[in-house]
Amino acid sequence: MRRSSLAVVVLCVCAALVFLSFVRSAGAQGPGGPGGPGGPGGGRPPGMMGMAPDSFAAERESLVAITMERIKGRENVAAESVFKNIRVMKGRTAAQVLRGMNGMGRSLGVSCRHCHIENHWADEDKPAKDVARNMMRMTSALNDSLIPSYTWPHDGKPRVGCFTCHRGHAKPMEGMPRPGGPGGPGGTGRPEGGRPPGERH
Ligand code: HEC
Ligand code: HEC
Repeated sequence: MRRSSLAVVVLCVCAALVFLSFVRSAGAQGPGGPGGPGGPGGGRPPGMMGMAPDSFAAERESLVAITMERIKGRENVAAESVFKNIRVMKGRTAAQVLRGMNGMGRSLGVSCRHCHIENHWADEDKPAKDVARNMMRMTSALNDSLIPSYTWPHDGKPRVGCFTCHRGHAKPMEGMPRPGGPGGPGGTGRPEGGRPPGERH
């Protein structure tokens, strides 16, 4: 009896320590996502603090390299004249779009297959692809219209990118500290926009 309750205490302490170090590293993450100017999700190096392990990095990089090879000689041409179904990323070069693909995957911690069936890149097989378009529109609206319309107390305006919210998760709330959990920030936040945390999935 006593031994097992001691074990429970030790386990709880360990879990709390792991949790706290996660919260710290997540908190240390600076603002501004990986979306470089015009590049949703692109720009920031991998391995950032607070990010979930990106187990698809190698796979994504290899698919980008294969596709880059396929469009060789046209990398710097406008994406819409190289690819078949570009609606939001018009005006970028084909190479920028491909790098953006990798960046979105990295920001969400997913493989290319989260939004595509491999090699059916131009098709609309997965709903996540069109969600991603809306997310790009939303992010541009924040960066290009909403944020500049406010006065900010510091030099420079904040910028958001996919990583700002997603932090390596397809659903941003995955991996969020639970309100009221050990060391949670006050436990008052309702990061899911009002839904109690237990109600997901
Ligand atoms: C989060 C969703 C998402 C992920 C992950 C993603 N893509 Fe995409 N992909 C899109 C969207 C959205 C478009 C269309 C962009 C537009 O309409 O401007 C697209 C378009 C493309 C196109 C252009 C196809 C054409 O002919 O129109 C290629 C090629 C492509 N993606 C390759 C990849 C590769 C390779 C990966 C992995 C490194 C990847 N994508 C990961 C959402 C995604
Ligand atoms: C302001 C915060 C925010 C930003 C910025 C943001 N997202 Fe999202 N994203 C969300 C939220 C919230 C959801 C809904 C998650 C859920 O259903 O729980 C979501 C969902 C998604 C989904 C659907 C996930 C699934 O279930 O498959 C995709 C794909 C996605 N985002 C892509 C992107 C991309 C690509 C970018 C950058 C261009 C981006 N998001 C930027 C908040 C954001």
